[in-house]
Amino acid sequence: MCRRCTTISCARWRRCTKSTNRARFPVYLSLRWPLAIWNALFVGGTDFTANPQKDAQWNRGAYLVEGLGHCGACHTPRGWAFDEKALDAGSPSFLAGANLDGWYAPSLRQDLATGLGGWSQAEIVEFLKTGHNRHGSAYGSMRDVINNSTPYLTDDDLGSIAVYLASLPASTTEKTPVPDDTTAKALLAGTDATPGAAIYAGQCQFCHKETGAAAPPFLPPLAGNPTVLDKDPSSLINIVLNGSAPLVVKGNPSPYRMPQYRAQTDRSADRRCGHVHPQRLGQQRAAGLGQRGSGPAQKHRSRQ
Ligand code: HEC
Ligand code: HEC
Repeated sequence: MCRRCTTISCARWRRCTKSTNRARFPVYLSLRWPLAIWNALFVGGTDFTANPQKDAQWNRGAYLVEGLGHCGACHTPRGWAFDEKALDAGSPSFLAGANLDGWYAPSLRQDLATGLGGWSQAEIVEFLKTGHNRHGSAYGSMRDVINNSTPYLTDDDLGSIAVYLASLPASTTEKTPVPDDTTAKALLAGTDATPGAAIYAGQCQFCHKETGAAAPPFLPPLAGNPTVLDKDPSSLINIVLNGSAPLVVKGNPSPYRMPQYRAQTDRSADRRCGHVHPQRLGQQRAAGLGQRGSGPAQKHRSRQ
């Protein structure tokens, strides 16, 4: 192997001028002691203490979610110093939804449209155990959590997590989404002339169906899905552009995968997302996501 560019087939060997990108940190970033200041400011010094007003199962769930599960690392919004805004159930910011690394990890509180307000405890357990349920499938960074972690928990532990999550009050005042088949009917009748409708009919309807109901648990519904309803469209754009790497639960790969449409233009990605959620198109434009050069394909180029 060439020592410089580390390519096995490099023919130039001694004359090779390419070098690998070695990580080089400025000295001050390799110092550990400033972390003590960060910890003192943002973490506090207390270990987990059980809440005496709650039962043992709730406390077990709190111990797993607030500590070992690291659920807040992705699902809790962060402050100016990249600190998690809350570390336990005492604050309405805890697990209220956050954007990290190109994916939006939705609220795990009882928000009716964008959180777990419509999920039963059994459905929370099913999602963490199998990566799917009738509401959606795990993808993006949640795929790693399913592939490597939660299916290996005991049923008791998963049940405790569900009890704990189901006890977190909503952080928004949302109404339960009401199904409306106007868009599906127009799509079936061929009277929807928007470019998004044509693309949806050609490329998405096959799996997600004209009503957006799809065929859960393996083909997730888009109608009423938090990915589609969330104010932050990062996950919606990212999964349409980059698809999802496979879910492999205890050695069993999922039968279907969301394809990637990255090769197509920003404009048509805009329209596809726009059809799934009509207001989304306007929101994306307002956020400058639909413009060439700064569009979703650029922002989410290789984030999987
Ligand atoms: C590495 C980041 C990360 C961690 C850690 C993480 N999640 Fe997630 N989670 C996500 C992302 C991103 C999504 C959105 C994609 C999806 O629906 O799978 C998500 C989605 C979910 C959903 C589906 C929500 C919905 O409305 O569709 C549940 C439930 C969930 N996570 C529970 C948990 C629990 C419980 C933990 C801790 C054991 C956890 N997550 C840890 C990133 C993460
Ligand atoms: C071959 C079938 C197939 C096609 C075609 C397809 N999808 Fe998917 N889609 C999936 C599967 C399967 C998932 C679940 C993630 C995974 O396992 O890869 C998914 C997940 C999603 C999600 C995340 C929902 C969730 O909660 O998991 C969105 C949003 C989505 N698709 C939108 C689209 C759009 C928009 C199109 C058309 C441009 C499309 N899909 C085309 C199979 C498909």
